[in-house]
Amino acid sequence: MTNVQVASRREVAEDIVEFRLVATNGRALAPFTPGAHVHVAVPSGGTRQYSLCNDPADTAAYVIAVKREPQGQGGSVSLIEKVRAGDEIEISEPRNDFELRPDVGRAILIAGGIGITPILSIARALNRRGADFHLYYLTRSPALTAFQDEILASSFADRVTFHHDDGDPARSLDLGAILAEPGDALVYCCGPSGLLRAVRDRTGHWPRGSVCFEDFGTSAPRPQSHSASFTVTLADGRGSYRVPPDKTILQVLQEAGLDVPSSCEAGTCGTCRMRLVSGEADHQDLVLFDDEMESNIIICCSRAKSAEIVIAPPEWTGAQDTQADA
Ligand code: FES
Repeated sequence: MTNVQVASRREVAEDIVEFRLVATNGRALAPFTPGAHVHVAVPSGGTRQYSLCNDPADTAAYVIAVKREPQGQGGSVSLIEKVRAGDEIEISEPRNDFELRPDVGRAILIAGGIGITPILSIARALNRRGADFHLYYLTRSPALTAFQDEILASSFADRVTFHHDDGDPARSLDLGAILAEPGDALVYCCGPSGLLRAVRDRTGHWPRGSVCFEDFGTSAPRPQSHSASFTVTLADGRGSYRVPPDKTILQVLQEAGLDVPSSCEAGTCGTCRMRLVSGEADHQDLVLFDDEMESNIIICCSRAKSAEIVIAPPEWTGAQDTQADA
């Protein structure tokens, strides 16, 4: 974590505040890539993740946009209510679970609500590169559309479709038509879980790896549709563990001291993918394709429908004996 100064703050939509963060020591900020985020220490305690929405070519600042979430845990509200221009706050170095492929030639960008933040950075980078892209920006109303004026005044305004549905599902954008033909495009989508799932459902025929999702900080915690506790056993002999209703498999394994890789912890990046050796999974992720679900599980969000599941690291060969010890 490092200290930065709030150079300015401004309201960019109803209940959405932009903070422009600059270095305090006169040195350049660490570089970042389109789609990156930082962890910010919030006045209420702990940290929250916020995507950087400026162009990575803008090396003078990190720009984040914070949405007031009255139903949240208070982190974003405390940032909005307590942090003023001139204050110093602590942030992490940028990291990226939503990388823009350097070779992307054509892209479809889909942003829902505050999910515009990483998408805007990606759009700016693609525009600078001269890439072919179109941005679909979905919100309830113009008043809730962060950066609308800025986008309309940008050199890529003609590549943006704003869609406001007033919260009426009957007025949703026809994603099926937009995503009907995969072609050579890549899709980058960030927004609430409902939007991500809608895009996921309409891109099953797209080539693997061509659809990328990001949803941290934009979605309410996923409901635990099968919230009973269950047992997870590591097929490589590292034990069996009880997963209670209020914890994920990933949390349980990490708390047990196991070295289990993870990144987004939102079911979108695939870092925590494990092999599903036996048992029935309750898949909650946006990573696995239908034909992968029988033999894989994303352990940061998915659970078990059966009383026990047996999992193994992706590289597991099956040579080790299964061992249950807890
Ligand atoms: S940590 Fe990203 S999908 Fe699990």
